[in-house]
Amino acid sequence: MPGIRPGMTTERLGMTATIIDGKTIAAQLRGRIAGEVARLTSAHNVTPSIAVVLVGADPASEVYVRTKSKAVAEAGMRAVDRKLPATTSEAELLALVAELNKDPSVHGILVQLPLPPQIDSHRIISAIDPAKDVDGFHPLNVGRLASGLPALVPCTPLGCVMLAKTVRPSLAGLEAVVIGRSNIVGKPVAQLLLAENATVTLTHSKTRDLPGVCRRADILVAAIGRPEMVRGDWIKPGAVVIDVGINRVAGEGGKARIVGDVAFTEALAVAGAITPVPGGVGPMTIACLLLNTVRAACALNHLPPPAV
Ligand code: GUN
Repeated sequence: MPGIRPGMTTERLGMTATIIDGKTIAAQLRGRIAGEVARLTSAHNVTPSIAVVLVGADPASEVYVRTKSKAVAEAGMRAVDRKLPATTSEAELLALVAELNKDPSVHGILVQLPLPPQIDSHRIISAIDPAKDVDGFHPLNVGRLASGLPALVPCTPLGCVMLAKTVRPSLAGLEAVVIGRSNIVGKPVAQLLLAENATVTLTHSKTRDLPGVCRRADILVAAIGRPEMVRGDWIKPGAVVIDVGINRVAGEGGKARIVGDVAFTEALAVAGAITPVPGGVGPMTIACLLLNTVRAACALNHLPPPAV
């Protein structure tokens, strides 16, 4: 929509929502992480390092991996990129994970998903050393998060909660509704919101009266992967809306454009605050991956957690 910029209050335009500027918030977080990386390197001779493993040549995954590696280098960290052919066997990938687990110079391991069909992704994730599991997908970290114990937690959910807290510093007692129950976003974001003392409802494709459930939400997290499914009249006036969707749709003149899971223009008129797509949750995912890598590097070297 022309004239709407991140961070702008839209009251002047007869609308109410503040746009949560994920791009700027993520850049600030990356700046603080870079400071911590410099301190760890000079004071302790520890330069946080992440191994990113890509199997095959899925174009979207290649873009993600390139973006991650660039952010890692910009923060002064070390990136070890390992590319394997699409024909790689499960045994070969397990052997690479074992090698990275053993390597003391590697603090974080990320195996890009999805994996080719001959590889069981659960097996691979379970083989990663939980102390190096910067995705927070290992069953031990999933269980620790669910038990309220310190854990490496998934990056996109962590970014969602950080963004919500920029406009509602305390989520205690708020009604939070999460749409989507994936292991990567829906389930862990529900756990993180619960840890913030929100009252959490986790909805999915079988949920009855989804619009009615969403209308109860003070915090609404949409992670369904369906373009603009959440309409303006699903949103409680003043709610904080966190849109995790990244959907490519045909725009005017056949040009592709990226939209979220929320009908943004409709939501602007009702919500109190909303993340844009692009420029909302996406940049926070990468910043949180850097944060998890620094946390892992500190823990593996018996140093106190980073102050960011
Ligand atoms: N593919 C899409 N999102 C992710 C993610 O957060 N981590 C990994 N490893 N793969 C992904």
